[in-house]
Parts: sequence; C-alpha cells; structure tokens
Amino acid sequence: MSSHDTKRRILVTSALPYANGAIHLGHLVEYIQTDIWVRFQKLRGHECYYVCADDAHGTAIMLKAEELGISPEQQIERVNAEHRADFSRFLIEFDNYHSTHSPENRELSEHIYLRLRDNGHIATREINQLYDPEKQLFLADRYVVGTCPRCKAEGQYGDNCEVCGATYSPSELIDPKSAISGATPVEKSSTHYFFTLPDFSDFLSQWLSDGHVAPEVANKLREWLDVGLKEWDISRDAPYFGFEIPDAPGKYFYVWLDAPIGYMASFKNLCERTDITFDDFWQRDSTAELYHFIGKDIVNFHALFWPAMLESAGYRTPTKICVHGFLTVNGKKMSKSRGTFINAGTYLEHLDPEYLRYYFAGKLSSGVEDLDLNLEDFVQRVNSDLVGKVVNIASRCAKFITRDHDGLLDETIAEPALWEQTVAGGESIAALYENRDFGKAMREIMALADAANEYIAAKEPWKLSKDPDKAAEVRGICSLGINIFRALCIYLKPVLPAVAVQAEAFLNDPLHWDATIEPLLGHTIETFKPMMQRVDKDKVDSMINASKEEAPAINSPSTETATIENPAIDVPAIESIAAEINFDDFMKVDLRVAKIVSATAVEGADKLLQLTLDIGSETRNVFSGIKSSYKPEDLEGRLTVMVANLAPRKMRFGLSEGMVLAAGDDEGIYLLSPDSGAQPGQRIT
Ligand code: 2FM
Ligand code: ZN
Repeated sequence: MSSHDTKRRILVTSALPYANGAIHLGHLVEYIQTDIWVRFQKLRGHECYYVCADDAHGTAIMLKAEELGISPEQQIERVNAEHRADFSRFLIEFDNYHSTHSPENRELSEHIYLRLRDNGHIATREINQLYDPEKQLFLADRYVVGTCPRCKAEGQYGDNCEVCGATYSPSELIDPKSAISGATPVEKSSTHYFFTLPDFSDFLSQWLSDGHVAPEVANKLREWLDVGLKEWDISRDAPYFGFEIPDAPGKYFYVWLDAPIGYMASFKNLCERTDITFDDFWQRDSTAELYHFIGKDIVNFHALFWPAMLESAGYRTPTKICVHGFLTVNGKKMSKSRGTFINAGTYLEHLDPEYLRYYFAGKLSSGVEDLDLNLEDFVQRVNSDLVGKVVNIASRCAKFITRDHDGLLDETIAEPALWEQTVAGGESIAALYENRDFGKAMREIMALADAANEYIAAKEPWKLSKDPDKAAEVRGICSLGINIFRALCIYLKPVLPAVAVQAEAFLNDPLHWDATIEPLLGHTIETFKPMMQRVDKDKVDSMINASKEEAPAINSPSTETATIENPAIDVPAIESIAAEINFDDFMKVDLRVAKIVSATAVEGADKLLQLTLDIGSETRNVFSGIKSSYKPEDLEGRLTVMVANLAPRKMRFGLSEGMVLAAGDDEGIYLLSPDSGAQPGQRIT
C-alpha cells in the first residue's frame, strides 16, 4: 500500500451481462476496465471485492429458452458456465460471479420492494398495452413491428422509425404485428406497479451535484430532472421469467428492478461463504466505497433509479458510477458481416487475451467517448510496446547476467538518476490508474521503457561484453535494465497479470507495488524465457474470417434476439421494393439540390445531425439520422439532394423542414450527391 493511503474498503461491480448471449469484445471493454481497476486497488494493498452475475430475467431470456426448446433455468445455467469460462480466460478475476435468479436476489428484491411500498413509494394504475393474443403475452415496444405512420417505411420496431426518426406509440404503427408470433396485437389493459421516482427529484438533484458521476454525465441526467421525472413501471404481467411480486400474484418484477439488486445479492453470496460483513458495505452510514462500472446506455438505471431505490430502502448509495463509451472496430459499429462482431471465444482461439487487455488499457480514459479497436494499430501497438519495448529490456539484459554472472545481479545501481526517474514515475502512474486514465498511465509506462531502452542502446552491453575487462560494467548496465524491467512489470501488473506471473518466476521475486520500489541488488534471477509472442497479423485476419463465418442467417431468431438486446450489434437488413406508384405520384415529390451550409450534432439524440440547407431561394432546417456515418465538419459545404416539399415535422429537438436523401442500411449511410456543376435549388427530375 502506498504510504500516502490508508487502507480502503472498496466494492466494485461491472454491469450484469444478459443470460441469452455470448460475451463479445464490446462487453469486454467494461470487464477489462473494471478488472484492471480492481487489480490495481488490490496491488496497492486495499481491501477490494469485485462482484458480478448474470442478468437472468426477462422476456428475451424466456423466449430464447423457448426457441432452444429448454427451460429458462437450463438456459441461464448454460450461459452462466459459458460466461464464467470466457471471463476467466480473459483473466477477469471476480471475487464472486453469481446470477440474479438466486435465493439471495429474491430475498433482497422482495425486501427492498416492501420497504419502498411501506414508505409510500409504490403506486399502482391500469395501463393499456399491445397484447399478442396467440402467445398470450403483453408486447414490449421492441416486440411490435409495423409500418411507420409517418414515412411508411416497413418493418419498423415499436416506438421509433429508424428511417425518418419519428417517434410514436406502438399502437400508431400501421399494420402492427407481434414480432414473436406474427399475430396482429390487440390492446389490453392491466394493473402495473410503479416506483414513484418524482418523489426523489430533490434528492437526485443533490446527488448528481455531489461528484458521484462525471460532470458530462450529470449534465445529461439533469435534463431528465428538468423535464420532470416520471414514475417508473417496475412490474410485468405473467408469463415472465423473474420473481413474482410478493403482494401481487401474477405480477413480476421488471428485470431492471432486480438487476442492480443483483450486485448486492452477489456480494451477499460472497459474504455468506467468507468472513466479510454485508452491512459494512451496504448500511446507510457505511464508510466503504461502492463503484459501479457501466456503459453509457444504462446510466439512467444506475444514476437515477438505483440511488433513489437505495435511498428509500435505507441503504447507502454508490460512491461513483464509472461510465464508459461503446466499442467500435476499425471506426465502425461491430458488424457480423464485416467479421468485426467478435465473440470472446473466437478471439481466444486466435489471440492472447493480454494483447486486448493492453490495447484497451491504452485507449481507456475516465470519459464516455467511444473506444476504437483499430486492428492494424492493435498489431502495431502491442508488438511495438509490449514486445519491442518492455519485454525487450529483459531479453537484452538477462543473458549477460545469466551467462557471465550466474544470474547474480549487481550490488549497486549503475545509473541512479535513471532508476530514480523510473521509481518516481510510479506515483503519477498510480494516480492515473486511480482516476481510470489508463491510456495516460500506459503512455507514462512506455516513456519509462523508452528511457531504459535508450540507455541500454547507448551503452551497447553486447559490444562491451566482448571485452573481459568490461564484465563489471556490463553487469551494472544489465542489472539496472532488469530492475527497470521489474518496475515496469509492477506498473503493468493490473493490465498484464499473466506476464506478471512469468516475470515473477524470472525475477525470482513477487511483484508488489510499494510506496517506494526498492531495487533487487545482489539477487539471483532465473534464466530468461520469452514472455510474449508478437501478434501475428495473419491470426487477426483468421479471427475476422472466423467471425464472419459465425454470422447467423439474416432474420434467424438468434439474430433477432441479439439485435433486440444489444443495440451496438449491427445486422444488415434486406428491404423489399416498396409498392408501385404512378408517374404523377412521383412528380409530387419536389427534389432539390441542397448545399449543406452547416451541420451540428443534436444534444440528446444519438443518431441525428441538424443540417442547415441552402436550396437557392431559402434555407431549411433539417434533422437527419446520419450521425453514425458522417462527422458534421465533413459535411459542411457539400451538395446533396433533399425532398423540399415534405410537410414540416415537429421533432423533440425542433422543426424539421424536409428530408435529405441517403442510401443505406445498418452497414452504413451514404448521402446522395449530384455531379459537380449542380447548383443549390435546381430541381431534380
Ligand atoms: O444492459 C445490460 O446488459 C444489462 N443486463 C445490465 C444490467 S446491469 C445491472 F443493473 F444489473
Ligand atoms: Zn418513418
């Protein structure tokens, strides 16, 4: 432990993965990030526990089991084993990995619900919903498909149109169908249970100001508070795979009610088989720290609903919600057809998990920006940093110590300034780890490796070693090299735990991160063995090809589930040709050449850009769902084509006065442009 720190007690969680699909590289950003942070805390001597579980409830899991012809219990058991194996092979070391479908979670969920109810924070009312008369279940928005009431695009899900961006209620869809059975849904009412979130507006407003989330996240959440919080529907009707609400037969807790309670339940399960005391971490006045690592898509559950539930139920609230962005691969959303939707298991068949741990570490910060896995950069960075810089120090130096000095390191440090610099770097690196600025930490570690390599290159021990009179000098240089290698391995241990084990065997010494790292002097090391292979580009290509082959057939049920459960997954859709129209119909559409005068991102909208279009006679304000494929600054000055006589549409962000034309599907969006020479305002016929 650092001499500046007192021993802290820290409980850490990562989001619970759904029990209906495999772990993929998108998930791993978070588990690797959390695991590095936890390993760092443990290495610094703190009492730190990392718990997680499968998120086992909900309609999607129930349907998945049905599709596979097994019970939900069998389904979640199968996935639990797969998830555990994937995590362990990626060296993600949980102190406990549990399931939300557990006795501890049932007990805690019931207990918390009853406390909310007794405190007057549960309301009931009737709501109307679409119901599948064939499957006899209520349909969540995403299980209803139909034609967009506005632009008439077919095959649109539940409550918003992917094509024109319109939002609506599922009952407004034209020709709605159940995505589960294909039946036409009917409206049906039932009683639902609500958590009265608006009662916590003042509490949450204060909580968000207290530094529990990054300022950018707090600002975003304040927008919810500003428009007024709504009561949160926490019940679902049977049939539902979950826990029945104690005082409401036939009603089940919505999966998102018992999922975060699953963090407590997993920890409780750990406490029950160790001497850790549950209350020390969860009671209201606990001095222990509680960190939840999550993706930016589930912030409202963790930074609004969850603290409010804990507050009402009389528990402590989280110390910090650590929010990260999504993973892109080669600058784009993960895609099955491009082979960049890579499952953990597929990666491991081809590549070493520590490559990815290091690469992600190098890209991670405390911010919510998306993180890109650029596969060329991946090969280059791992080879150049880990193999070329860090391990190289040991491989260059070890042989002289082993061959000429029986493995015995020098009694003194040859270049104290260089050693001091390496040791002094530790505190700054530790502070960067603490703040989750792993990318900066990796750069500082590599700068120290560069300094060591420069020193060794300048001294050229391989030349000196030819002269027997220089043996002592060579020993001094190489002993310092080995000591610097050791310090770098200590700094990298949270990221590269398997390399650290090999380094410990080579150095004959366990790697601890003490306040001051003392050098190994007069100490015997073992023979050096290569610790890491270079990344082979061919293996990366094989992994991509294997991932392409794994892609299920379009519209197969498992694809559907994946699309529903993980919006980051991108499955190409094939659209049929729309119904025939006559020439007069076509001539009603006034298509114009438009010049994009300005383009800006729309705050609060993931897909939209706001465009100002010059069409000669006037300018138009248009919201367009092209953000995933275009940077605003690249659009400015560009010509495109717009529908100029489309009735203006009032959107949540303002009035949209027309529509720009673009081709595309989930693979990408391609804005149409006229050939050069066209002028803004010219009509297209
Ligand atoms: O978004 C998801 O994948 C959820 N299964 C995360 C749940 S996190 C927690 F609240 F349990
Ligand atoms: Zn539409």
